[in-house]
Amino acid sequence: MPTQLDTLRGPLDAIGQGHVLAHWAQLTATQQARLVDDLQALDLAWVAELAEQVRAPKPPQAAGAAPKPPPTVAITPALVAAGEALLRAGQVAAFVVAGGQGTRLGHPGPKGTFPATPVTGKPLFQVFAEQIAAVGQRYGVTVPWYVMTSPQNDAETRVFFRAHGYFGLPQADVVFFPQGTLPTFGPDGRLLLAGPDRLATNPDGHGGSLTALVRSGALADMRARGVTQIAYFQVDNPLAQPLDPGFLGAHAAAAASSGEMTSKAVRKVAPDERVGVFAQIDGRTQVVEYSDLSPAQAAARRPDGRLVLDAGNVAVHALSVAFVEHLTAGGRADLPLHRAHKRQPVYDPSVGAVAEAAVVKFEQFVFDALPRCAASAVIEVARADEFAPIKNAEGADSPATSRQLQSERAAAWLAAAGVAVPRDAGGALLCTLEIAAATALDAAALAGQPLPDHIPPGATLAL
Ligand code: UD1
Repeated sequence: MPTQLDTLRGPLDAIGQGHVLAHWAQLTATQQARLVDDLQALDLAWVAELAEQVRAPKPPQAAGAAPKPPPTVAITPALVAAGEALLRAGQVAAFVVAGGQGTRLGHPGPKGTFPATPVTGKPLFQVFAEQIAAVGQRYGVTVPWYVMTSPQNDAETRVFFRAHGYFGLPQADVVFFPQGTLPTFGPDGRLLLAGPDRLATNPDGHGGSLTALVRSGALADMRARGVTQIAYFQVDNPLAQPLDPGFLGAHAAAAASSGEMTSKAVRKVAPDERVGVFAQIDGRTQVVEYSDLSPAQAAARRPDGRLVLDAGNVAVHALSVAFVEHLTAGGRADLPLHRAHKRQPVYDPSVGAVAEAAVVKFEQFVFDALPRCAASAVIEVARADEFAPIKNAEGADSPATSRQLQSERAAAWLAAAGVAVPRDAGGALLCTLEIAAATALDAAALAGQPLPDHIPPGATLAL
């Protein structure tokens, strides 16, 4: 009878990956079983393809036409009404990609547990939960929330939600699932080990969220609930407004949109700002990453001084369930793989120890689905209302800049409602403010609320 080892060794040898079993005899039975689990989970034909890509020279940047500004849609009352109809019919789900850890922020644990708001320090997950609850209340529905975690933070994320009573959302309407991983390779295309009994793997990127939606059964769950549209956002932006009716209506009903995938953009402030930009290349909407724009393309201006490519990607997209089904018809998201060369600790069975080595990782980006749409529109939204990302511990896009931007948005909303907000002669805000989604989802919702006439300088106020 062939042993488990025999049935694995042949196929692995056939694709030039037999080395992962070279130390088999030195493993305990438990370790052997553990390694077999990892190896059996591999799609070997795909591993062979990936290994081939590792060895191939990096493809030159596709020489398409010069990038032009993408098609944009102005929000009209009719589009807002179309979005509201979708929300009222319970056809919209919220979907956050939260596979990241707070390591770069010096925060132990999932990034969504990071205390983000300026006055009460609410964690990012709570900010979104409150927004989802408030939208549900406004439209008389429950908006289901899909939370993509990673194998690394899945358990901790679930414990966090449970410990906080799902922030008031019905437990059955918060659905967790981990994103997938891809094998990590050496520069020679050989699979690497993370330890004697496990393969080295890396998260498959936010593009992997589409595969994870299918494999976890979340997409089928959406269908069963009657959901037709997915409001996608990243966990790192507490001002994200994925459930905005104008945006959803433009996605589903605007002439410039095929209803497959639509994006929000904010005006990029400087040529070197580290956001991707939406552009139209060869008639297709796509995101060009900041690292892929030439300095001349990034700095090119229009006659009125505006940057030509200034539609900054805030990573808020609307996707139809049908479009995700189409992209994943082969069992995984049919999107390009981006290759990154890094160094990280890997296990070397010949010396029986972990040491730093050169590795090659693959990941997918969700915005690579944009050029697959027949027509994908971009909606420009007010930067001050919708973008305050938390990425770095200090400097740009840090907790401090995000808190300031959140406070400024609250100040602008209060001022619009007639409240005197203290500022110094230079216009700097002299108080710290926070408005919960339950109080107001937008500036207009503050009208008619009990508000102070003025806020004293130095005040800290959470509404
Ligand atoms: C990203 C976008 C950029 C955009 C900016 C807006 C990319 C390559 N670029 O940049 O175009 O302007 O956000 O803030 O995405 N994530 C997972 N699993 C993964 C990888 C990422 O869940 O495997 C999630 C993270 O939790 C995070 C988000 O995706 O919330 C963004 O990923 P990150 O790598 O931080 O992208 P940025 O370089 O910030």
